[in-house]
Parts: sequence; structure tokens; C-alpha cells
Amino acid sequence: MKRIAIVGTQWGDEGKGKIANYFSSHFDWVVRYSGGANAGHTVYVDGIPYVNHLLPSVEPSGHSKAFLGSSMVLDLEQLIEEIKAMERTGPGLASRVYLDPEVFLVLPWHKQEDALLETRTDKPLGTTRRGIGPAYTDKVSRKGLKLYSLFDEQMLSEGLERLYEEKRSRYGEDITGGPVQTHETLLELREELISLGVNFATSLDLSEQLRNDSILFEGAQGVLLDLDFGTYPYVTSSSCLAQVIASSGFSVSELDEVFGVVKAYATRVGTGPFPTEEEGNVSSEIREKGREYGATTGRPRRIGWLDLPALRYACEKSAITSLIMTKVDVLVGIDEIKVCTGYRINGRISDIPASSYDFFKAEPVYNSLPSWKSTGDTSFSRFLEFVERTVGRRIAYISHGPETNQILQRNELSKG
Ligand code: GDP
Ligand code: IMO
Ligand code: MG
Repeated sequence: MKRIAIVGTQWGDEGKGKIANYFSSHFDWVVRYSGGANAGHTVYVDGIPYVNHLLPSVEPSGHSKAFLGSSMVLDLEQLIEEIKAMERTGPGLASRVYLDPEVFLVLPWHKQEDALLETRTDKPLGTTRRGIGPAYTDKVSRKGLKLYSLFDEQMLSEGLERLYEEKRSRYGEDITGGPVQTHETLLELREELISLGVNFATSLDLSEQLRNDSILFEGAQGVLLDLDFGTYPYVTSSSCLAQVIASSGFSVSELDEVFGVVKAYATRVGTGPFPTEEEGNVSSEIREKGREYGATTGRPRRIGWLDLPALRYACEKSAITSLIMTKVDVLVGIDEIKVCTGYRINGRISDIPASSYDFFKAEPVYNSLPSWKSTGDTSFSRFLEFVERTVGRRIAYISHGPETNQILQRNELSKG
């Protein structure tokens, strides 16, 4: 396979980083194509967990190159921190990192604004406070700055002046760090990236190479957090679908496979509808066994049962061709495993939400399935078959532990 995309099918944190990392050594490039440092992708390197917020999940000592595409929003300070951490394990990694100069910058003011918006309302969204909403808002409003402005100092200072004026007029003294100071900081960060050996190149600059190279596209968040199709307004501010690789300059029609990553149960951080949410003892058990605490904010994740109408919806919206199921080990020892098979809305049962509005109205209809002790059990195979049959997608891989090699292909199950 030359081109694959990894997409989250739930509310994020499905294990996309681990899966991208597992495949990455077989690909010339790993491309992050959406979101920003709101993402937290955990990967294991020599048994040690690392959390990538911005950096694609390449092997630090491998050969594959990392590309950060134009539809991302980039916090340079955070990126440098991650590159430095990975450089300690894989010296030379920075020279395999490519930044598209078209990428949009997250400035300190965006992070301040994110926090202000969350604290000034009586209905906070529970954002990661990484400045994502304000940065994408400025992008759509045609304000703000792209990475290339760091190489044009006049453009940079004019852009910063304009944006600062605007933020101050809206938030007054709560916005700190003036344009001159921010200008200096950004130039320092640019110099640091250059001295680390990071490359600056658009997808067009690289088109000769990319034409023949294999590419893994690593998604961020999940379809149910997508700006258009997620549980609006409790969503992130960007698209989370595989199709958005087009906004980073790549062709959707060249994708050989779109893998949807799905946990064997469901989680969500932040506010918003969660039809299969479970609040009893079993949810605490799953949270502890699955270490369900936010990789970006440390918040406890809300826990629920696997939601097949939502999964079917995600498969349709993001053109998912097959599934990868993660965290099946976490449900070992749980007495009764529930799976939502339908949504009851105004007395009628449907097997897929017609629009994101239905997530607010749905009462889940459950099937109970027997639990399993290992991936070799018949009850586990039956669980997989049930999901495949209901959703109409093959489960191609099964992840049964956090480490990169704790994964099986469907036809290897008996070895589990
Ligand atoms: P992402 O945002 O989709 O990359 O997922 P996160 O990294 O935020 O959260 C997934 C968590 O589950 C991380 O701590 C992973 O190390 C861990 N993980 C991934 N796959 C598995 C698995 O199959 N079993 C277990 N127990 N943990 C897993
Ligand atoms: P990964 O890539 C889980 C959630 C936040 C909040 C909402 C809006 O690790 O799966 P934002 O900061 O984006 O404005 O917050 O979206 N959220 C995530 N939840 N995993 C993520 O990314 C998330 N990125 C954003 O918790 O509810
Ligand atoms: Mg995460």
C-alpha cells in the first residue's frame, strides 16, 4: 500500500498515534494534516511513552520523514520542545521534519483568548486551551499569520500589529505580550528551527519526491469532534476527516485505504453529548485499566460503551474502508460487555444518526455480549464479527496493549 490514512472514529484518543507509529517504518513519509497541539498521540519508543502533540508519529531512529501540512495550526514553541525530546532518542530526527510554510501560526494571544473564552462563559466547551479555536477563527476571518511570514519581517510586524490591536480592543489588558516582544520571540523560534536542521518545504516543492513515495496520513481528533459532522458546538474547530488531506495539498483519490481507529469502548474529554456514557463502577474500572486520562490535559476521560450507530456514521462521513480496533485488552475481566446497536429517537429506532442533532436526542439500545479472557477466545471472535456485521466494515487489525508491537492482524488471532 502506497497511501493510507489513519482516522479517529470516536471523540479522539482512539490510539491513532500507536497505530501510525506501528505502520510508520513501512512508509517514506508520515503526514499530520489537521488540528494542532490539541492532539495528544502516545507512542512507545524502547518501552518509554512519548506524547506527540504536533510531531507526526515517526520512529525517532527510523528513516521515514515527517511532514506538517498546511491545514494544521502550529505552535512553534511546542513543536521545538517535541523535536528536542525526540532528538535525545533519535539524533538527527530534526533533519527529517518538514514544515509547510503555508501552515497557520498559533500565537500566544490565541492561547490567552482560548482560556478567556472558556472562563468567561457559563457553558465552557472544555477545550484543551491550546489556542485552536481562536487560531482557526482568525484563519477563516483572514487575519493572523502563516509560517512564511517569519521569513518576511515587514509582513510579520504588520500582521502582528494588526492582530494585537484587534485582540486588545476585544479583551483589553487580558491580552499580554505586545507585538514587538512577540516578533522577537517568533524570530528566535525561527532561528532555533533552522539550527535544529528542520526543513521548510511546501507539498509542491516536494512534488517530485512525493509522487513515488509512500505516505501515511496521521489524523488528529475523531469524526465525532469534526467541525461539520461532530457533536456541534462541542467539537474542535477543524475538520477531522481523511478527506481533509486535500487541504494539505494531497489527493484523496490516491488513498489506497482509510483505516478508522476505534476503541473497544468509547471515551470523551470535555463537554458534549455522549449517548453511551456509563457512570457507574464499571466506568471507573475501565478508566483505571485503560489509563483513560487526557494525554494533553490530564483530565479524566468520560467512559461509555462501544457505539455502533456512531461508528457507522463515522465510516460514512470519512469514507473509511476498514477498521482497526484498539484497547481490547482493557475489557478483559469486565463481566458484561454492552454494545449500542441502535438509537431510539422520538420512539423510532435507527441504526445510524441522520445528522449530528441525533446525538443530542438519542437513547441507546444495547446488546449484551459475553466477555473474553484473551484475544484467542471464541467470545472475542464473536464480538469482532458482530461489530463487522453491524457496521459493514472489516476489522483488519486488533491492538491489545499500548506498546507498538502489541497488535495482531485479523488472521493471526489464534496467536493472541
Ligand atoms: P490518540 O490521540 O488517538 O493517539 O490516542 P492517545 O494516545 O491520546 O490515547 C490512547 C492511549 O491508549 C495511549 O495511552 C496509548 O498508549 C494507549 N493504547 C493504545 N492502544 C492500546 C491498546 O491496544 N491497549 C492499551 N491498554 N492501551 C493502548
Ligand atoms: P487526539 O488527536 C480528544 C476535544 C477537547 C474539547 C474539544 C474542543 O489526541 O485524539 P479544542 O482544544 O480542540 O478547541 O477542544 O475537542 N479535543 C480532543 N479530545 N482527543 C483529541 O485529540 C482532542 N482534540 C480536541 O477536549 O472537548
Ligand atoms: Mg489523544
